[in-house]
Parts: sequence; C-alpha cells; structure tokens
Amino acid sequence: MRTDKTDILTMLRNSGDYVSGQQLCDRFGVTRTAIWKVINQLKEEGYRIESVSGRGYRLAEGPGDFLSQSEIASRLTTKWAGCKVYYYDETGSTNNDAKRLGEEGAPHGTVVVADVQNAGKGRRGRGWQTLSGTALSFTILLRPEFAPDKASMITLVMALSVAEAVESVLEGAQDAVTTIKWPNDIVLNKKKICGMLTEMTMTPEMDEIQYIVVGAGTNVNNASPEEFQEEIRKTATSLRIETGRQIDRADLLERILLRFEDNYDVFLETLDMSGLREAYQKHLQGIGGVVRVLDPAGEYTGISRGINERGELLVEKEDGEVVRVYAGEVSVRGLYGYV
Ligand code: BTN
Repeated sequence: MRTDKTDILTMLRNSGDYVSGQQLCDRFGVTRTAIWKVINQLKEEGYRIESVSGRGYRLAEGPGDFLSQSEIASRLTTKWAGCKVYYYDETGSTNNDAKRLGEEGAPHGTVVVADVQNAGKGRRGRGWQTLSGTALSFTILLRPEFAPDKASMITLVMALSVAEAVESVLEGAQDAVTTIKWPNDIVLNKKKICGMLTEMTMTPEMDEIQYIVVGAGTNVNNASPEEFQEEIRKTATSLRIETGRQIDRADLLERILLRFEDNYDVFLETLDMSGLREAYQKHLQGIGGVVRVLDPAGEYTGISRGINERGELLVEKEDGEVVRVYAGEVSVRGLYGYV
C-alpha cells in the first residue's frame, strides 16, 4: 500500500488523539523510519505534531492557512466532490487545468486548486488576478447526464454553496452580511468577494455535455484594499478585510464542497432551481429593490422580484411587465454602483 503524507495526516486528523507508530506501520505496511520521515516533513511544513514515547504521535495543531495536496485531501469528508484533488502552488488557470483533465478522462468531482494563477480567467474574457497566499481559487469538473440547457443553473448552485460556506465560516462575525449578486457574484458587506466562471464542453457530436468546469475565486486573506488591482479596489473586498480574521482556505474549500454536494443533489431532483430557490433568494442581493439591467439591446430599470425555477432574474418594469433576465446575457447592478 502506498503511504504518503495525505494518508498519515488523514489518520492523525481523524483520530484527534495519539496514534502509535506501530498502528501507522501496520496500517500502511511500512517501516517506522518511513513514518518518521513523513512526520518530519509535516513538521517542516508547520504542523505541530507531538510525539510521546509509548503513545505515538498526535496532531496538536495545523499550520494555519496553508494549501497543499495533503492538507486539502486529508480534510475532505465529501462523498464525490474532490474525489481527486490536484493542487498547484502556481498554474495558469484552474479552469484550463480542469478542462485538460476532463479531456484526459478525469472523474466527476475532480477538483483543481491553486495558490496562484498566472493566467486566471474572469467572465466576459476578462482576467482574474490574485496574489499568493490570498485567494481560494478552485475548479470542479462535472460530468452531468442532464441536457445542455440546464448547465447555466450550475453556477447558481455553486453560488449558493459558496454563500452558505462563507456564512458558516463567518458565524459569529457581527455585521458580516453575505449575499449573492445575481447570478453568481458573492458579496460581503456590499463588496465582491467571489466570482465564478463556468465552461461547458460538448461531445464531438454536439448533442450531449461531455463535461462542465465550474471555477470559483474567493478573496480570502487579502490584508488591505491596496492588494487589489486599482480598477476593482472600490468594489472588491476579502473575508479578512471585512472580519479582521485570517481564514483557513482549505477549511473554506471543504465547506464549499460539502454544501455543493448537497445542493447539487437537490438540483438533480428536478433539474431546476425549484428546490433551491428559497435558500438562494434568502441570500439574493437587492430583492424587492430597484435594479439596472445593462442589456446590450438597451438598459432599463425595474424591481428585482427574485428568480424563477430556471434561475432567471425576474425584473418588473414600471409598466408592470415582468422581464426574465437570462444569466450570461446581461449585467445587473443596483442603482448606485456595484450592488
Ligand atoms: C468573474 O469574472 O467574476 C469570474 C472569476 C472567476 C475566477 C475563478 S478562479 C478559479 C477559476 N479559474 C479561472 O481561471 N477562473 C476561475
């Protein structure tokens, strides 16, 4: 059996108590020296591991906010989301990596995470830049069996999952209000903390989805607004800026994937947003308020009436007409700025 850091870390983490060297050797069929080497590697990475003769090893404390293959994989308690994890300190774009893995046959639920993306992609052909140690940038690869016209709703499913996970991380942080700016920006105290980019690849016959990649970038540990590019400084923020707390990105990822698994199941039951609509609308920014729809065919304002079961935003114009706004087609803003 292959023993690596992930296996040992998982065992120490799950035990929460001392695990004897012998137990580790028996479990993985390796020598004490092999175990000792891995324990030392973990210590070098910042894990505080106590060793007491006669009792063994105990994971006393993790290294704080730290991303690595082992740190992520040893935490995941999900059923399929993250069944395979690829972690890179630096890559081009996790969406591109996930698409490459999709072509190579990687399974449904494969997750790619990076500390830094040097060619991160935003929506509408824009870039997405983040500094090392600040963002949680990841992409999940999905191989759904549903029809292509359902795919746009998956971004809303992920948006809800990120919003719920962020909310759970911030529990107790007073005044931290997490909302979703339709369709899929996550907003904390009226500034953007997370954006998403979903890309779909069809089969060569173009009649079925081959795979979908859903990428999400969350500003987590940026210490000050100066860490954002000038163009987005007024509209972007991070979890740390808003709460004063350093957040563990691997923990946030685990929470997002757990919520995503549940929400995806609910979505699959009806193949629309009807089972998730209430939860989504609880987070929806500006519901009942005036929004400006930046439609290339002509801007208009109206009152946001929430989403329908297809995830379209319902905007009631002054003359009473209710327009269904499709994701991807237009931008929607508040009257006075970003939200
Ligand atoms: C937006 O413009 O709001 C969407 C930003 C999406 C960024 C994420 S980060 C992980 C994934 N990889 C990418 O290249 N983009 C997405």
